[in-house]
Amino acid sequence: MKILVTGSNGQLGNEMRRVATESCAEHEFIFTDVAELDITDAGAVLEAAKGVGAIINCAAYTNVDAAEDNEDIAHLINATASANLAAAAKAEGALLIHVSTDYVFGGDGNTPRTEDLPTNPLGVYGRTKLAGEQAIIASGCRHIIIRTAWLYSVHGKNFVKTMLSLMATRPSLNVVFDQVGTPTYAGDLADVIGTIINTPAPAEGVYHYSNEGVCSWYDFAVAIGQLAGSPCVVAPCHSCEFPSKVTRPAFSVLDKTKIRTTFNLSIPHWHASLTHCIDKLK
Ligand SMILES: NC(=O)c1ccc[n+]([C@@H]2O[C@H](COP(=O)([O-])OP(=O)(O)OC[C@H]3O[C@@H](n4cnc5c(N)ncnc54)[C@H](OP(=O)(O)O)[C@@H]3O)[C@@H](O)[C@H]2O)c1
Repeated sequence: MKILVTGSNGQLGNEMRRVATESCAEHEFIFTDVAELDITDAGAVLEAAKGVGAIINCAAYTNVDAAEDNEDIAHLINATASANLAAAAKAEGALLIHVSTDYVFGGDGNTPRTEDLPTNPLGVYGRTKLAGEQAIIASGCRHIIIRTAWLYSVHGKNFVKTMLSLMATRPSLNVVFDQVGTPTYAGDLADVIGTIINTPAPAEGVYHYSNEGVCSWYDFAVAIGQLAGSPCVVAPCHSCEFPSKVTRPAFSVLDKTKIRTTFNLSIPHWHASLTHCIDKLK
């Protein structure tokens, strides 16, 4: 099968490059990022998708804070461009695998989020990502939407790399303990997308995926420091100590039962995947 990947210079896109040489080696991949294919260009997307059996959308406007001041561009990339990809998938009869976010939910409650729970985004990023999901579903194209959370990898900018660089220069750090969720290693998510690609007629719909387990950003930072052998002291603090335009969900644990059972997955615990990532960064 011919597969178009968008946003392939990002965290997830880079991991899809690895999957293309491993579990999906029999498929023909076309890797693009904005220089080769700007997904906001509907005509270019239609052209690039000619003859493909699947599109994997790893492109997005992912700067949650900057989105608050740039709603137009965030909406263009996260919503309008998702509609472009859906239209191209529909025209080709291709499967669109699209990645969304836990930020489509508000942060209230304390039970893991299932796919059918009502959405309630708290900011521009979540609103525009939700609009992207809705445009894909409304298009009638074959689609799988995977909502994920707290994504990190050896590529690009992310919490793990930020913590490692701060820990290298500071004796101590304060990290919030009142936001709880589950980290997701982009390599694990890319492997799941590979499994879906290799599944004949995969069940369409919305799925949740993160690593297993639950932690606060504080717990995550402590584990990063321990695995890196850093002497930096990590202390817990409240979110209000880091004023931001964005209200982040206080509780955003995703329930992965649906994706685990549908695709017979064994999902790694977040600490095991973090260990793997830190080893690679070393
Ligand atoms: N990062 C997280 O913590 C997180 C959490 C939950 C869900 N997600 C979702 O997971 C998916 C993958 O995220 P990620 O962290 O891998 O993203 P990322 O590292 O920010 O990569 C996104 C890629 O898309 C590219 N891009 C931006 N605008 C584009 C356009 N108009 N046309 C084509 N490519 C464009 C970016 O290029 P530039 O860098 O040049 O802009 C970048 O290479 C996204 O859908 C994101 O919303 C991420």
